[in-house]
Amino acid sequence: MLDNLSEQIHGKAAGEPTWASHPLVDFVRGSVTERSDWVRALDGVREIVHLAAETGTAQSMYEISRYTTCNAIGTGLMLEALRESTSSRVRRVLLASSRSIYGEGAYRCDHCGLARTIPDARTGGDLAAGRWEPRCPVCAATLTAIPTSESDPPRTASIYAATKWTQEEYVRIGCASLGIDHAILRLQNVYGEGQSLQNPYTGILSIFSNRIRVGSELPIFEDGLESRDFVHVEDVAWSFLAAIDRADPIAGVINVGSGRATSVAEVAHQLGRALGLEARTRVTGQYRLGDIRHNFADISRLQAVLGYRPQISLEEGLGRFARWVLSRAHGVDRLDSANRELVERGLMGVYEGEA
Ligand SMILES: NC(=O)c1ccc[n+]([C@@H]2O[C@H](COP(=O)([O-])OP(=O)(O)OC[C@H]3O[C@@H](n4cnc5c(N)ncnc54)[C@H](O)[C@@H]3O)[C@@H](O)[C@H]2O)c1
Repeated sequence: MLDNLSEQIHGKAAGEPTWASHPLVDFVRGSVTERSDWVRALDGVREIVHLAAETGTAQSMYEISRYTTCNAIGTGLMLEALRESTSSRVRRVLLASSRSIYGEGAYRCDHCGLARTIPDARTGGDLAAGRWEPRCPVCAATLTAIPTSESDPPRTASIYAATKWTQEEYVRIGCASLGIDHAILRLQNVYGEGQSLQNPYTGILSIFSNRIRVGSELPIFEDGLESRDFVHVEDVAWSFLAAIDRADPIAGVINVGSGRATSVAEVAHQLGRALGLEARTRVTGQYRLGDIRHNFADISRLQAVLGYRPQISLEEGLGRFARWVLSRAHGVDRLDSANRELVERGLMGVYEGEA
């Protein structure tokens, strides 16, 4: 296990977490941006599960070199370390990629009958005018989201997404040239026990749970009907295990999600119920440039290739997450200062019609 225990994610006083000293864990505290740390971490490894990354979509829009260094160059260094190692036993690289590479993902038009389209990212003008839903490129009617499949083309709309796409390409090309297998798991919105409660730049359910616990208001962006595919971390872990265990080559991309869309307003209320507290939501009309409106996964390939189907319903997953959250000291709420950073840089606005 290679991790630098980044302060933004693990908190300031990050001593080594309990799992670092588990007898089954060989922990290297180091960075994916250091070749020598990769060499140390790869010793004796058969499969690499590459999860380490900078993960804040909005933050990536201004801390650009930090994101490209960690995510893109870090992955390049992994491939170099693999190439230079004379004793490498690695047979497969598994990459945690992201649904963000699809941008808006797939839609259909119920008005003119267009069966499948990947709409352009919404412009600043659309968002400022409260035109939240993507429009049909043929007839301009409001589109309907449909499951996004692995064959849909990438339409990255943030620096973070671009770095995840770069990682995918590096892994695909680099592993082929090394003669080893690879699997790219494109994760939807992962949540669950163990996720960072500190990081104000990502993890909507952490941010919401911190606020619900102290009774503060939850600002709901846009009109609250934007939706995400929430998948519990245990289902993600089982998907990675299935990809490690598969005897035949994978050499491809697999979506990992629940296959269901839930609106942000709805998940806020469900989380409040799971915590046994009221979620005091307020639709603010705020928006972030680069955010998508809807995206949920077609998970047929997950089942066909890895034989796995997510098992944990949103209700059960939120229950587990809420019990874990309530057993922790609550994280520092830095959402307002993170949002101020976006406003100052012109990356966040507000639709006055809702305010
Ligand atoms: N959580 C999600 O919803 C989601 C969705 C899509 C994709 N992913 C991908 O899954 C992976 C894990 O996501 P997460 O939500 O657990 O992220 P996270 O931000 O909570 O954790 C990232 C981990 O990487 C470590 N790290 C950061 N920079 C590092 C560096 N330079 N060297 C070594 N370690 C470093 C951090 O200390 C942390 O332990 C990422 O690759 C992310 O892009 C996550």
